[in-house]
Amino acid sequence: MLNKCEMAPADPILGLTEAYHADTRVDKINLGVGIYQTETNQTPVMAAVKQTEAYLVENQLTKRYLSIEGWAAYNQQVTQLLWGEQHAAIAEERLLTAQAPGGTGALRVAGEFLYHKVGARRLWLSQPTWANHRAIFEAVGFEMQEYTYYNNTQHQLDFDGMLRDLQQAKAGDVVLLHACCHNPTGADPSHEQWQQLAQLCQAKQLLPLFDAAYLGFAEGLDQDAYAIRYFADQVPEMMVANSFSKNFSLYNERVGSVSLLAQDTTVARQAFSQLKKVIRALYSNPPAHGAMVVAHILQEKDLSLLWQTELLTMRERIADMRALLVKGLNSVQTQHDYSFIGRQRGMFSFSGLSPQQVEQLQTQAGIYMVGSGRISIAGINTSNIHKLTQSIQSVL
Ligand code: LMR
Repeated sequence: MLNKCEMAPADPILGLTEAYHADTRVDKINLGVGIYQTETNQTPVMAAVKQTEAYLVENQLTKRYLSIEGWAAYNQQVTQLLWGEQHAAIAEERLLTAQAPGGTGALRVAGEFLYHKVGARRLWLSQPTWANHRAIFEAVGFEMQEYTYYNNTQHQLDFDGMLRDLQQAKAGDVVLLHACCHNPTGADPSHEQWQQLAQLCQAKQLLPLFDAAYLGFAEGLDQDAYAIRYFADQVPEMMVANSFSKNFSLYNERVGSVSLLAQDTTVARQAFSQLKKVIRALYSNPPAHGAMVVAHILQEKDLSLLWQTELLTMRERIADMRALLVKGLNSVQTQHDYSFIGRQRGMFSFSGLSPQQVEQLQTQAGIYMVGSGRISIAGINTSNIHKLTQSIQSVL
């Protein structure tokens, strides 16, 4: 039976990493996958994580199963991190969180729950969006819709287009929103625009599902949670799929969470019981290690401060490399003004390079980036910036 399978195409993001590693050129540059890298291309384990892991090795007494929804202390800490300790919905027990295996796992659980337990059928994605979004929700069975998000000529959010398209959504549709640091464009709505979006979701009875994979990479943890917190004040129901891959540098531990907000405690508990059914059928209960690390760090003040300082270092290095890229591109050529890259937020720059130019960069110079022209900024350093800007200039 297996001979019916044709070769699947390489993954548009993770496949790039494979191609990069197979490339023998010594001056190749990896700007593909969204992972943090230091000036010397390392993705180190954070000090707060290392310390916690040492503590866990000494103190962990068992490897028994976690419960279906995961580690209770973790779920509590995550809820507080996302909404702030004082958020009324937490005290009202309308907000419930389950641990999930990474952001992808969280999105898939949310999708399965909304489709099979709630009866949602249509899901709206920004155009463009993270390459895996469509695959995740199509696999669930959703009918996919797209809303305009970005103006490629003006290199900025097309908010009018976004509102216009979402006006077409019907009651009961799910709208996927990026909480901050939109992937791939780096263009986020302003506070005022988020307010309009919340109003629209409420008026049209749409269910907002936030993908929060980059909290802490724009301005700071609290600032970057603005939309999540504001929506929770305004709409009766919402969901959040959160990932700690990036902000805890815990990529291979698969540590994330899925939260739901309901109009009252009873509805929240009933809905959560169905979410747990989804989890049980998908992977039974989540892996423990990464969540225990995160929970311990968030519970211990000193470790939490250390982690936040390390996160700040990552954010600042990316900002420095972003500035270097803008300066470099603007100095090697005069036909385009690249200042817009400086206004984008988070791990990525949406460069405006075409798929053909991206391919040329890969074949001619060993520079790897996503076909949409998305550059993972942390792959830039002071040693490769010259080659990068010269190579880009040569394909313009
Ligand atoms: C990315 O967008 O590069 C990351 O979220 C990694 C991934 O899984 O695609």
